Amino acid sequence: MNGNKAEIIRILQSSGGKPVSGQEIGSKLGITRAMVWKYIREIRKDGYEIKSSPKVGYALKSSPDMLYPEQIKAGLETSLLGREILYYNEVESTNSIAKELASKYPEGTVVIAETQKKGRGRMGSEWQSLPGGIWFSVILKPSVPLEYTAKMTLVAGLAVSKAMRELGVDARIKWPNDVLIHGKKVCGILTEVDAEVEKIDHVILGIGINANVRQSEFREEIREDSTSLEDEVGKPIDRIVFMKQLLFELEQQYIKFTTQKFSDIVSEWISLSDTIGKEVTVTTPVKIIEGKAVGVTDKGALLVKTKNNVREEIIAGRCRYSK
Ligand code: BTN
Repeated sequence: MNGNKAEIIRILQSSGGKPVSGQEIGSKLGITRAMVWKYIREIRKDGYEIKSSPKVGYALKSSPDMLYPEQIKAGLETSLLGREILYYNEVESTNSIAKELASKYPEGTVVIAETQKKGRGRMGSEWQSLPGGIWFSVILKPSVPLEYTAKMTLVAGLAVSKAMRELGVDARIKWPNDVLIHGKKVCGILTEVDAEVEKIDHVILGIGINANVRQSEFREEIREDSTSLEDEVGKPIDRIVFMKQLLFELEQQYIKFTTQKFSDIVSEWISLSDTIGKEVTVTTPVKIIEGKAVGVTDKGALLVKTKNNVREEIIAGRCRYSK
């Protein structure tokens, strides 16, 4: 969106519904009143409801339910994440776009879309991405060794759960990084890494949230095990407010990850874990491990105690609950 349009929206939003004169807006932006009027008409076409009263000015009555960058950025309390947001109405996959653009865009850039035609899930699965959800990818460039990827996955799951808990729902993390409410999946995270030798070049954190999507809209195979924020809260959520909170939490956890001991993150992760204490079956590329999930290590690995009392440390795999 044009910078002047974004700035006009910001001015109208920060006036809290009170009218602002075309003169005042024009002088703030260094443009004429006629130009302000031209932009107001364009902003209306984007779905904003703006009342204009002669000699009084313009007042914002409502904003569209779209994940427009200028809406997310207004009052966003981050210094890195979401400073640059690339918005699309429909894409194949935000992770694919973020991967292509990672070398050209700064760390913290967000790629967000209203829908995805070929949303990608873990292990090659398809990720259903209907309108009303929140589908986005963040480009990160941490200077850490490749083996830290598993830890980043936990960081993302923790941030999502914390942001959701602000809505009053009991969001919990299923290792490694699904977020569940009442045992049903509400968010999936796909972490993709590009590394040279043993050092990470960039990480794409792809986050898919069933926000304002109804359970009945999910395809049949996943319907029973999935839920949405709308279903859990009992009404549609404000996706913009939620997105701001999520980027804030993600940045907080990311700062902790790059500056503090990982054990601090692990203990918070464990406090919100849905998996610890459960009987699990974990499938890795080399074996299947059955037992009780008893902890998470400082490497981000799941600790499983098998029937033979062997403690297995699993760094990556698909986890299913056995009972
Ligand atoms: C999973 O299988 O649980 C991971 C799902 C990840 C989906 C998100 S939606 C935004 C981003 N773009 C993608 O294509 N996938 C991720």
